[in-house]
Amino acid sequence: SKRTIVAMPGDGIGRVVLDETIRILTAAGFEANYVEADIGWEFWCKEGNPLPKRTIDLLEKHKIGLFGAITSKPKDDAASELTPELKNKGYVYSSPIVGLRQYFKLDICIRPCKTYKGNPLNFIRRGKEGKIEEPIVDVVIFRQNTEGLYGGVEWSNPDNTVYAALTSHPKFVKNFGDVPRDELSISTRIFTKNGTSRILTAAFEYARKNSYKSVTVCEKPNVIRETSGMMFKLAQEIQRKQFPEIELWNTNIDAQMMWLTKNPEYYGVIVAGNMFGDIVSDGFAGLIGGLGFACSAQMSEDGIAVFEPTHGSAPKYADFKTSIVNPIAMVESACMMLDYLGETEISRRIREVVAEVILEGKVQTYDMKKMSGKPDVIQKGAASTYQMADEIIAKLKTK
Ligand code: NAI
Ligand code: MG
Repeated sequence: SKRTIVAMPGDGIGRVVLDETIRILTAAGFEANYVEADIGWEFWCKEGNPLPKRTIDLLEKHKIGLFGAITSKPKDDAASELTPELKNKGYVYSSPIVGLRQYFKLDICIRPCKTYKGNPLNFIRRGKEGKIEEPIVDVVIFRQNTEGLYGGVEWSNPDNTVYAALTSHPKFVKNFGDVPRDELSISTRIFTKNGTSRILTAAFEYARKNSYKSVTVCEKPNVIRETSGMMFKLAQEIQRKQFPEIELWNTNIDAQMMWLTKNPEYYGVIVAGNMFGDIVSDGFAGLIGGLGFACSAQMSEDGIAVFEPTHGSAPKYADFKTSIVNPIAMVESACMMLDYLGETEISRRIREVVAEVILEGKVQTYDMKKMSGKPDVIQKGAASTYQMADEIIAKLKTK
């Protein structure tokens, strides 16, 4: 029987990139049923819930999701856009994609960033004697996806219980003891031993399976001693006991952001907590062409997995008569789904074709021209999302 995939287009450009990706998957011979599930802004406005229960149920049942992108807005703006019947009834907006991650404990997030040969957006640098070099980036970031600074444990103007707990900490008393309570805003950074071990182990396993020689823990253990410190200590233990053949490196997030513009080719697998993983993965994504190329997978311990581009709904490009955004980030996310499902032959073919299309450079979406600055490419970059998908499909037929 055919697999069922939960297709969650979401908002803005989410729909077009997902539709075109499904067209490509079908052309590549991947057999599946797709059920569309509601998520995003429209459902917030109409129902007061951007992540309806029926969508949760579909994912619970079918386990595998493809997600486009959603529009998120700050709490107060969101409340003002509810339909009149729902206004002032106590509905509070929260991001449905963060909601999905928390609900299904999609704690492992994987974001590969690999150079496409011939991409006009590739990072270039000045090497020795001013020579221009184009390093090949082949990095896979493992981001803890549910804890840390995005765990949602936050206060402004903390109540008595919280304040009492804070004042029991000598550092709080020393550094913040004289600040009026209503001037305090606090966001906690909670790491658990289990969550941290799981992301580290996933990173090491991936490195072993895909022959990367190093795993880099990218945190800040010398300053954030408890959480970052625990992560690095656990990494040392896991490496020593289970992965002695893989080198363990340790970088600080700030220095890492500088080094990735100097020597990105040094790094293999990188692992970090939620926020630093978010930051460092956007940094590496910038080196390989940015949001139009950055894919991701997120998965839970009990077999639920959602695959999505890292970009958002890009509202300013959503209302074009013809869509012009780049579908490759979504296509590559779907390839990660194929790998997850064991359909590695199909994903290999799609990736091969995408690489060829980029290398040939005949069909380029607007983003590929915008930043290139190369006169021969400026003329191009006018392909629509559909034309890019058509080109990929045409090439698939020749394989
Ligand atoms: P965005 O990623 O939607 O767009 C930023 C810019 O990147 C766009 O204006 C466009 O120039 C470019 N871009 C994005 N995707 C592209 C593609 N496939 N091809 C070519 N160019 C592309 O980020 P922004 O503008 O900060 O946020 C827009 C909305 O998306 C917000 O409501 C935000 O909350 C939401 N968002 C949702 C995410 C998700 O669904 N996972 C992630 C990030 C933002
Ligand atoms: Mg991000």
